[in-house]
Amino acid sequence: MSLSSIGEEAVNEKDTPDLSTTVGKIEDLRQRYHEAVYASGEAAIAKQHAKGKKTARERIELLLDPNSFVEMDEFVRHRSTAFGMDKNRPYGDSVVTGVGTIGGRQVALFSQDFTIFGGSLGEAAGNKIIKIMDLAIATGVPLIGILDSGGARIQEGVVALGKYGEIFKRHTMASGVIPQISIIMGPAAGGAVYGPALTDFVIMVDKTSNMFVTGPDVIKTVTGEEVEMEALGGALAHNQVSGVAHYLASDEDDALDYAKSLLSFLPENNLSESVVFDTDSDLEITDADRLLNSIIPDSPSQPYSMIQVIESIVDDGEFLEVQPLFAPNIIIGFARVAGQSIAIIANQPSQIAGTLNIDAAEKAARFVRFADAFSIPILTLVDVPGYLPGTDQEWAGVIRRGAKLLYAYAEATVPLVTVITRKAYGGAYIVMGSKQLGADINLAWPTAEIAVMGGQGAVNILFRDKIKQAEEAGEDVNAVRAKLAAEYTYNVASPYLAAERGELDGIIEPAATRVSVIKALAALRTKRAARPPKKHGNIPL
Ligand code: HXC
Repeated sequence: MSLSSIGEEAVNEKDTPDLSTTVGKIEDLRQRYHEAVYASGEAAIAKQHAKGKKTARERIELLLDPNSFVEMDEFVRHRSTAFGMDKNRPYGDSVVTGVGTIGGRQVALFSQDFTIFGGSLGEAAGNKIIKIMDLAIATGVPLIGILDSGGARIQEGVVALGKYGEIFKRHTMASGVIPQISIIMGPAAGGAVYGPALTDFVIMVDKTSNMFVTGPDVIKTVTGEEVEMEALGGALAHNQVSGVAHYLASDEDDALDYAKSLLSFLPENNLSESVVFDTDSDLEITDADRLLNSIIPDSPSQPYSMIQVIESIVDDGEFLEVQPLFAPNIIIGFARVAGQSIAIIANQPSQIAGTLNIDAAEKAARFVRFADAFSIPILTLVDVPGYLPGTDQEWAGVIRRGAKLLYAYAEATVPLVTVITRKAYGGAYIVMGSKQLGADINLAWPTAEIAVMGGQGAVNILFRDKIKQAEEAGEDVNAVRAKLAAEYTYNVASPYLAAERGELDGIIEPAATRVSVIKALAALRTKRAARPPKKHGNIPL
């Protein structure tokens, strides 16, 4: 059965409407249409399954609430006749689009179908995606793209390229208006990768997805470099090395589950609020809270895991980390406090001592901007000895790129709560949600040290003579240095000095952190902040 004969039948039936049987006829038409589409696609579907990949529709079924999917443009087909396209595939096109619900909340989505023209994007597929994007923006619901595509449809040339341009424009217009999530479940090749790159979160499936601007063959021809597809643009490479991706899913189910969890923390759009869950938060300090009192090691150079601190503050200890494999010296992710979604940014002292570097600054800056755009309050946990020193950082532009985090915090208008657990040195103190950049409530543990630099570094500069004298007198230099450093820390870096000057709003027992954060966020719930009108700022990109 060819589509044209189905179409003719439909037209004839339209000429002689019989309302009593119309519904049955539509269903019949749809059934025959799908049979026609899939009869010739069987081999391609088998090939897809053999690679451990699901079809576009199977993925939608798994992502959305049962029976919630409403497909759009189901019968749209490509028009190009180039290279016998119409004869090879006289029906359908390479993307399924529509709306549905996840956890009862509305989303719009497109899911590329690799079994048809390798999921490549031509005029018809492009128009379908554009239409669903326009609907997502008009209705203010999150957009999810499931990508599995050979890129621009080679047969359709400039028309295909133009459709990408229209899609990129819409991703940009939708940025900061609706959350946009890309799930890469196969190839995303060439300039097509810039679609996902413009979205807020990119999820990749281990081993079966890849993203690259120029593939291994082109690289070999142009530079002579030999690299495998997986090493070049596989899910691990983009999660760990490039920072393009935000989650490394073990398989497709894991990827879809992560997308669902992510959405549960997000509002529908920039004008709506995230769902607040009913919880009975204990406002008394509990035994579990008291474990935090002993988390900071005695030695200032000994690390501990900030994840443990986060889990002890948030509801049910549930923290959805974002981009965990990239720049692990900074932690970003979502959680709930007293049922309310919050974004968390925290230094991780167990990774390069929690220093800030270019990757960490860019990772956190983008996250701050996302949270700010969607009115999700930000909790910042600080234990940072400064920016990572070194020529590679300086020459790679740590000044320009590190400034992004500063800029992001300084322009944020959402409620900002900051807790300093240990070190907050130098410029990094200012960057990490300081009062001066606009944080609303700043707290510190008694173990906090706020200073231009750590005691050891300060002593080497301030007391060079004393140390030299001790050396000449044959004294234990390390002991002298440690004593001076302790004095400096006590006298200059003490959090009580910062509290005296109002740079901290309070010094709290670590065990009181959870309750203090709940109260701070409750106090800030009605925060309103305005910024001077301007077209847009000029973040140091
Ligand atoms: C048309 C395509 C296609 C494309 C794949 N197919 N890519 N058809 N246009 N871009 C078709 C194949 O011909 C094949 O058709 C079917 O899809 C499956 O492809 P295979 O090659 O058999 O699959 P596989 O071995 O898994 O390899 C997948 C692949 C490879 C790595 C994606 O197909 C490939 O390299 N494709 C070209 C990628 C590319 O360079 N695209 C252009 C990027 S530039 P049959 O009929 O045999 O089943 C771009 C510009 C964007 O996208 C512009 C933005 C501004």
